[in-house]
Amino acid sequence: MRLLVTGGAGYIGSVVAAQLLGAGHEVVVLDDLSTGHRAGVPEGAEFTVGDIRKDAAKVLADGVDAVLHFAARSLVGESVAYPDQYWSANLGGSVALLEAMREAGVRRIVFSSTAAVYGDPASVPIRETAPTLPANPYGATKVAVDTVLTEYARMHGMAAVSLRYFNVAGAYRDPGGQWLGERHSPETHLIPNVLAVAQRGDGPLRIFGDDYPTPDGTCVRDYIHVADLAQAHLLALEACAPGEHKIYNLGSGTGFSNREILAACQDVTGLDIPAQIAGRRPGDPAILVASSDRIRADLGWQPARDLHTIVADAWAFAQAAHQD
Ligand code: UFG
Repeated sequence: MRLLVTGGAGYIGSVVAAQLLGAGHEVVVLDDLSTGHRAGVPEGAEFTVGDIRKDAAKVLADGVDAVLHFAARSLVGESVAYPDQYWSANLGGSVALLEAMREAGVRRIVFSSTAAVYGDPASVPIRETAPTLPANPYGATKVAVDTVLTEYARMHGMAAVSLRYFNVAGAYRDPGGQWLGERHSPETHLIPNVLAVAQRGDGPLRIFGDDYPTPDGTCVRDYIHVADLAQAHLLALEACAPGEHKIYNLGSGTGFSNREILAACQDVTGLDIPAQIAGRRPGDPAILVASSDRIRADLGWQPARDLHTIVADAWAFAQAAHQD
């Protein structure tokens, strides 16, 4: 198939693009490089620098069988400070993309969504049937796109799948030997922050809060390796059915506390990583763990890589990036 990957210069989009190429598909990346990196576009992909709000039609006109849509703003704190930018880029961008797809007669889309749609859940593990009560504009924009996708499936026969990611981490080495990993600026995610402290030999790492109702008092999250996550996109692409909008959670079903993540990073790096407890970060739910039973049952997906592999690959990427 010939596939459009929006946001294919970003962390997750680039790994999915690499796996699609590996599976023998043709890949066209559209990315405005606002947060993505040109070097992240995997070798073998066609690349257009552009904005989905203005440039999707142009790329689709060349003939595309399906779209994998990652282009979005994704920082929770920033979304609270500048909600207009999030509504415009995430909701406005997705609607513009869907309209361009409709015009071009492209009917299949896999959409990159998030656990942030659930907010602070009443119970864990979280199923897809849990209420969507986002705690910030970022999550709200992703819920809104799901509403639009359901509507486009019903009204226009679109075939849509939304994948709601829990905590994505790790890195992927493509068949050409290129490491694709997480390079956000600012970096807000736990594992790259811990490893950056290890790499720089400074610190301490700040752990946000140790007074949560969890076994060790620090927040618990469900980590999924980016390569396992990417694999789910290839399965979702095949599972797209006209007139249907399917929604799947993607997590491992196992939670690790922030202290356990720190310990795993010390174990992998062999370094003593200094940390101190800081105040809670506003908006952090105590525990987020996915039930991925639905995608396991429907698509036969299951994660193959454990926490040790996630951290080891993130560490290999950090060291490779350091040498660039
Ligand atoms: N944390 C620290 N120190 C850091 C960074 C993070 O203690 O330097 C803590 C956070 O407070 C949280 C945990 O590590 O308790 C995980 O934080 P991340 O920022 O790595 O991930 P989140 O769980 O906040 O974010 C994930 C996704 C988001 C999504 C969000 C929904 O990455 O896209 O879940 O809550 F919006």
